[in-house]
Amino acid sequence: MLCGQKLSPLSFLSLQQLQFASQEEKQEFSKFPTKTGRRSLSRSISQSSTDSYSSAASYTDSSDDETSPREKTQVNSKGSSDFCVKNVKQAEFGRREIEIAEQDMSALISLRKRAQGEKPLAGAKVVGCTHITAQTAVLIETLVALGAQCRWAACNIYSTQNEVAAALAETGVAVFAWKGESEDDFWWCIDRCVNTECWQANMILDDGGDLTHWVYKKYPSVFKKVRGIVEESVTGVHRLYQLSKAGKLCVPAMNVNDSVTKQKFDNLYCCRESILDGLKRTTDVMFGGKQVVVCGYGEVGKGCCTALKALGAIVCVTEIDPICALQACMDGFKVVKLNEVVRQVDMVITCTGNKNVVTREQLDRMKNGCIVCNMGHSNTEIDVASLRTPELTWERVRSQVDHVIWPDGKRVILLAEGRLLNLSCSTVPSFVLSITATTQALALIELYNAPDGRYRQDVYLLPKKMGNTERPALAKQTKRFIFYLLYISKRNT
Ligand SMILES: NC(=O)c1ccc[n+]([C@@H]2O[C@H](COP(=O)([O-])OP(=O)(O)OC[C@H]3O[C@@H](n4cnc5c(N)ncnc54)[C@H](O)[C@@H]3O)[C@@H](O)[C@H]2O)c1
Repeated sequence: MLCGQKLSPLSFLSLQQLQFASQEEKQEFSKFPTKTGRRSLSRSISQSSTDSYSSAASYTDSSDDETSPREKTQVNSKGSSDFCVKNVKQAEFGRREIEIAEQDMSALISLRKRAQGEKPLAGAKVVGCTHITAQTAVLIETLVALGAQCRWAACNIYSTQNEVAAALAETGVAVFAWKGESEDDFWWCIDRCVNTECWQANMILDDGGDLTHWVYKKYPSVFKKVRGIVEESVTGVHRLYQLSKAGKLCVPAMNVNDSVTKQKFDNLYCCRESILDGLKRTTDVMFGGKQVVVCGYGEVGKGCCTALKALGAIVCVTEIDPICALQACMDGFKVVKLNEVVRQVDMVITCTGNKNVVTREQLDRMKNGCIVCNMGHSNTEIDVASLRTPELTWERVRSQVDHVIWPDGKRVILLAEGRLLNLSCSTVPSFVLSITATTQALALIELYNAPDGRYRQDVYLLPKKMGNTERPALAKQTKRFIFYLLYISKRNT
């Protein structure tokens, strides 16, 4: 029997079995670039299920229980089985993880304390699809404290902290996620969040656009009740703008990715703190004296360069934007072309958001032992697909670490198969995520409470001032949030 209470007919179907209106629709759906669709599933699932320390430090992944959570019947202490996680008995351990995260998520906790009396999300039914980590759990529990009901799936098949998902399930959140989902599981989990009896979402919180896309394609009538979409990622926001341009966006959407509170904190500081962690955990590399090339000197590149330089690495930068190139020079980094340095460098790190920044030709020219990884956009920055050819041998040496071996014996060390290094192989700082999560929560509150006519069917940035909100405590809180950010910047100067 499958776990969970309310099973719709669709719950039993695989992606291949889903009924599409036409062959064309099916093809279009399959073409749609999803996070899961961009990497090789066949290689990775069993590896991630035995992974001991990758992805947000999930300590419970070494469980011998290989039974799919979909095949288990699990019930939380309140008697509910409206969830599907690896093992609900890990809840206590997950609770400790969430408590640790709370300690450094003061912006979100402050929002929770200030606004929970007023319950600005009372009546909100939020369906969410994000990484399920201790930090996201703090966000979900904040939304619940503010009055929302939540159903949640993971936006990435690797990043779920199983014990955290268990803790959420134990408190009554309908969470459908586990680490090492198959692609079929991934869509099944999203479907279980959306397609349920007696509950219809009226808000969407998405990271990557897969949930929005699923609702759009499979349950468009849900949009009749949805008051807005809050989207965090570059990819998801891009999809929303495409929908808006085509006149197909049915509801207002909030672009959290381009809010100053995400760009200037998450992209820069999160990457500055997590790049070294990801590299160390996977390779144990010594940074001092290593020659590193960082491709792209935007927010992410700046963070990576600063961290690497601080540990004594000799860092050079590639850039296509003259202003960013000049900034790199002013900050003391040599600006180069990748082709000029690719033979001598010890590490190549991509941070551009662009495609094919590192080509097969450049990979061919790298020296033995060169570490190649990506901090930018999904797995398209390094041409990993070009390495899957018969003359090259792939050797999995650790979780998320592959040696790609050329016929002459040269090895390139590829991390996380070219996906985001920090999200795949390290933890990310709770403090920074707290600022992004607070922005997401405020965006939900704003869209949910906005009077008719304030937002059209378009993509918006969170207003810097929300003083005209109908809810005085919220306005006060928003001001506090901005003051809080100011306080942080003052404290650091
Ligand atoms: N790893 C993470 O945790 C994390 C966090 C936030 C954002 N991101 C992702 O990182 C990417 C970059 O984000 P950002 O905020 O730094 O963007 P950004 O636009 O500030 O910077 C990207 C820089 O790369 C440069 N660039 C583009 N193509 C290039 C090429 N072929 N060679 C060299 N330089 C090139 C651009 O000129 C730009 O300066 C995005 O895809 C974003 O989604 C990752």
